[in-house]
Amino acid sequence: MTQPSSKARTALVVVAHHRADSLTAHTARRSADRLEAAGYRVDLLDLHAEGFDPRMNTADQPDWGDREKAYSQEARAHMRRVLDADVIVAVFPVYWQSVPAILKGWIDRVWNYGFAYGRSRPRLAGKRMLWLGLAGATADDPVTEGMHSLLEANLNEGIAYYCGLSHSTVGLLTDAEERPQRVDASGNLLVGDAVAGAEREAQYADFDRRAREFVEKFLAEEGVTA
Ligand SMILES: Cc1cc2nc3c(=O)[nH]c(=O)nc-3n(C[C@H](O)[C@H](O)[C@H](O)COP(=O)(O)O)c2cc1C
Repeated sequence: MTQPSSKARTALVVVAHHRADSLTAHTARRSADRLEAAGYRVDLLDLHAEGFDPRMNTADQPDWGDREKAYSQEARAHMRRVLDADVIVAVFPVYWQSVPAILKGWIDRVWNYGFAYGRSRPRLAGKRMLWLGLAGATADDPVTEGMHSLLEANLNEGIAYYCGLSHSTVGLLTDAEERPQRVDASGNLLVGDAVAGAEREAQYADFDRRAREFVEKFLAEEGVTA
């Protein structure tokens, strides 16, 4: 385990799933363990468990004439957690080739004008971000490549770099369903039989391995080895 500085670095792990027994929550926990093993202090932000309200409201709506607007207490508490983090890892199920509403709402309300963007010296500069998206599509589904590109454009370009983050990467974890899904040439969704037994164990082991590789590659780019 190597640590770049004597002060423990902080990783904010953001989980966007309504079930604690989901593959998404499992992947977030394993990623947090990995980060801890690499010497990070982990702040685990489970948006559903903490009751985060993703709906935009008047207090958190940007005022384009006031970069210093005092946003709601809830948004400010989340901004503090973002500021305290050196790296941010968001773990979420891919919904409609995007992030689920609760994660989108967190970005909308917390990554706000004057805090995350709108300054010549961005406050989030220097932070690094990993987006780990779990997708029901299989790796060989023709939809997967375009989905990955869309997520990269939206999350890396549209959000992270717009907010001055120094690095952002999207790890797409396909085959997140035990029943394989793919869309045929006529546009029908084909849902295969659930895998079971040893085959299922192997599928999950492979899934965990791919998730771990994304985290380790992200850490290696940070100069940290787990
Ligand atoms: C509303 C909704 C939209 C979805 N959209 C996509 C999608 O665009 N692409 C995809 O590959 N899977 C999609 N899925 C499948 C989810 O990504 C998949 O069920 C999830 O990653 C499984 O992880 P979980 O067990 O932790 O929920 C969607 C699922 C739901 C419920």
